[in-house]
Amino acid sequence: MKIRDNYVIKQNQRIAKDVYEMILVGDTSAIQSPGEFVNVYVPGKFLPRPISVAYSDEESLCLAYKVVGEGTEIMSQMVPGEVLTVLTGLGNGFDLDVPSEKPVLIGGGMGVAPLYKLAVELKKRKKEATIITGFRSEEDIIYYEQLNQLFPNFVTLEQAPLKKGVRLVTDILKDLSESDYDYFYACGPKPMLKAVCDIALTDGEVSLESRMACGVGQCKCCSIETNDGMKTLCKDGPVLKKNMVRW
Ligand SMILES: Cc1cc2nc3c(=O)[nH]c(=O)nc-3n(C[C@H](O)[C@H](O)[C@H](O)COP(=O)(O)OP(=O)(O)OC[C@H]3O[C@@H](n4cnc5c(N)ncnc54)[C@H](O)[C@@H]3O)c2cc1C
Ligand code: FES
Repeated sequence: MKIRDNYVIKQNQRIAKDVYEMILVGDTSAIQSPGEFVNVYVPGKFLPRPISVAYSDEESLCLAYKVVGEGTEIMSQMVPGEVLTVLTGLGNGFDLDVPSEKPVLIGGGMGVAPLYKLAVELKKRKKEATIITGFRSEEDIIYYEQLNQLFPNFVTLEQAPLKKGVRLVTDILKDLSESDYDYFYACGPKPMLKAVCDIALTDGEVSLESRMACGVGQCKCCSIETNDGMKTLCKDGPVLKKNMVRW
């Protein structure tokens, strides 16, 4: 089920360098699983902007977005009380039904946003998750307190690329053994996702990104070749099982 509706902005505040968190009030009944995204119809822009659901409950949804271009710049200037049209219930999110008791979550940069909702759902299901997140600098860190509160096994790193001896999220993952985790969920830059898939000792899944337009599998502009044939990332993804991804 998908719902295209008007949502009222309850809050829209800066939470990190160029990153804003927008809370929208409205019908959230189409949002099923963490890792799904919504299409935001930014006023004055023809194509919608796909943004992951960072968190949602019965009456509101929360988006964490980085200002990178005109659309997200317009969003960042909107104020509480204004209305945005949003299409919700998009994409195939993270699989919560896998037989895993202690998954590891690996997030890089803005890829940490959908992991927040995932962590909340895993906590509700009494899973013992380990969370590893990495950011370019201290100014880029998002959801530190929230994730730290949810799981004690939480590591966050700053990975300024020019700093010598810096540890990457994949270095932390390499240090874990098979007794530390039995599945992985990852979201972040593609090179990080590929490295995670190469290193991980278990099965898992990754959330991929691509340019999108319709968001519902019709225009085919987000088609990618997988080990299971051509798939659209907006409908069959953005989350794909590790063994499906052709890097
Ligand atoms: C499934 C999915 C989930 C995403 N979740 C988040 C999130 O939670 N937080 C976040 O900050 N960003 C997220 N992104 C990236 C976000 O969609 C782009 O940063 C945003 O669309 C840029 O819009 P703009 O108008 O500011 O930039 P412009 O570059 O001016 O955009 C021009 C066009 O390109 C598209 N576009 C630009 N960059 C991307 C991109 N990386 N992916 C897809 N389309 C793009 C825009 O939607 C727009 O149609 C996600 C992308 C996808 C595909
Ligand atoms: S965005 Fe149209 S098919 Fe994916």
